[in-house]
Amino acid sequence: MGIVTIDNVTDVVIAALGKNGDIDTRQREIMTSLITHLHGFCKDVKLQHGEFMAACDYLTRAGQTCDDKRQEFILLGDILGVEVLVDMLTNPVDSGESESTVLGPFYRENPPVLPKGASVVQKHFDNEETAHFEGYVRDTNGAPLEGVIMDVWEDAPNGLYENHDPDQPDYNLRGRFVTDENGHYAFRAVRPVPYPIPDNETAGELLRYMGHHPNRPGHMHFILSKEGYRTLISQIYDSSSEWLENDSVFAVKESLVGEFKKAPKEMHDDLHVEFDFVLKAEAKAMAAE
Ligand code: BEZ
Ligand code: FE
Repeated sequence: MGIVTIDNVTDVVIAALGKNGDIDTRQREIMTSLITHLHGFCKDVKLQHGEFMAACDYLTRAGQTCDDKRQEFILLGDILGVEVLVDMLTNPVDSGESESTVLGPFYRENPPVLPKGASVVQKHFDNEETAHFEGYVRDTNGAPLEGVIMDVWEDAPNGLYENHDPDQPDYNLRGRFVTDENGHYAFRAVRPVPYPIPDNETAGELLRYMGHHPNRPGHMHFILSKEGYRTLISQIYDSSSEWLENDSVFAVKESLVGEFKKAPKEMHDDLHVEFDFVLKAEAKAMAAE
């Protein structure tokens, strides 16, 4: 099967898998499907050599765009709806647990550890609306979960995350909180505003090639973790935000839309957001129950 034709090229390449070194079942599954779909795509669109060279140049430039602040390949995956799809395949929802969604490229590890009820705001903006976030974290049986570590991060009222804005203090609008014995969390922040994902460089080229826009609706990011439970990476979306129905990265889910209500006077914040989470026990922990 060494002689290649347009009809046998896919089979010839698949037949080469594992010929010169061991590959495991998963590698074989991934490579067989990748080659099949890639060849099918080229045949579907009758890809021309100039277009292939343009794609190679594009991927080269995408790689050159990456540094410690910008991860271009996650962005490209987001624009194509791949990160949200992979997340749904990785974290299927089947027991009433909260839905996850994309991590995105703006998370920073080790945010400031803050006491329950503290504010993540280090710098004030004229147009900000302060928001009091609170709620309960429970397991899928409804029992409160104490000691859940909750990382939160959001953009500032100017639409920029702190690490992309030299005028914001380090770790502004980021914090780590822990649930109390009732599974309750609370913190103070600002209303997250809609913002465009980075739309310069190769991410912007892809958006324009697709005829799509870069905008995301206002959202607060969360990572909830506790030993024995599946880590939940998710977001709460502002129900009144523009772009809710038309997110550039396709990450909005109905169960993640929250109400940003006018806060009662004694709360000393403009808005009040109540949102509960449900964590699913990991398979190991469930088997031991
Ligand atoms: C974000 O929500 O931070 C985000 C998600 C995907 C792409 C860009 C940003
Ligand atoms: Fe975001």
